[in-house]
Amino acid sequence: MDIHILRFESVESTNVTAVQYALDGADEGTVIVADQQQGGRGRMKRVWSSPLGGLWFSIILRPKIDPEHVAQVTMVAGIAVAKVLRKLYENDIISIKWPNDLLVRNKKVCGILSEMQLNTEGNVDYVVVGIGINVNVDYDDFPTELKGTAASLNEIFNKKITCSEVLHKILIEFNDVYEKWISTGLNVVLQSWGKMNCTIGEKVLVKDDDKVIFSGIAKAIDEKGAIIVVNSDGLMRKFDFGEISIRNSETVKEVH
Ligand code: BTN
Repeated sequence: MDIHILRFESVESTNVTAVQYALDGADEGTVIVADQQQGGRGRMKRVWSSPLGGLWFSIILRPKIDPEHVAQVTMVAGIAVAKVLRKLYENDIISIKWPNDLLVRNKKVCGILSEMQLNTEGNVDYVVVGIGINVNVDYDDFPTELKGTAASLNEIFNKKITCSEVLHKILIEFNDVYEKWISTGLNVVLQSWGKMNCTIGEKVLVKDDDKVIFSGIAKAIDEKGAIIVVNSDGLMRKFDFGEISIRNSETVKEVH
């Protein structure tokens, strides 16, 4: 994929801008990056706080795959981002919480939101993968409700890595993992997910729209990226939607 970066000082949301470009026919590999977003979007229709200092970008993709498999691209992106951040910050405590949040000591440092559009024949027209990374957001610039649950990488690791270095390394890695996924499927890629996750083996609450719908121990993820959870009665369920909170002893740790 040829990468072509379009930079903006401020946009409502890089995902929104990327969708506009995609509708206008932008090629796969077009990347929209902004210094700040006025209406950054998170999963479950949440607001994504996006002040200066963070890395906010969206990649336009046009994968020729079954629409049923498109959601996996978010995990593919999570793997690429985790690999790069672990290398750049020289630390393996950066880990993936299913399906694709990146955490450091239970604080969220990255979130990913993908959007897809089908064409009239029912094939994938475009996919926009939006990635938000708290590289160097000043603690004071996080809204009050996020101060306990979000953190910036440069502050945690006491480094001065620039957003543009993080972006370039991620785009190279993403290209690599994405091509692997397209040619071989998710299974191969998931081996890296297994090595970098902080979810399997933990007590989790599975939530949909902020409501707890199941709880138990996260046992594994299947070949499609769904999480397998077993409750205290031994009942096993698989989830390919929603999100989880990880429960450590008595404390329920919520993230962003
Ligand atoms: C989440 O809720 O965890 C997903 C957050 C995704 C945020 C990124 S920032 C760049 C892109 N533009 C958006 O409006 N959202 C995504």
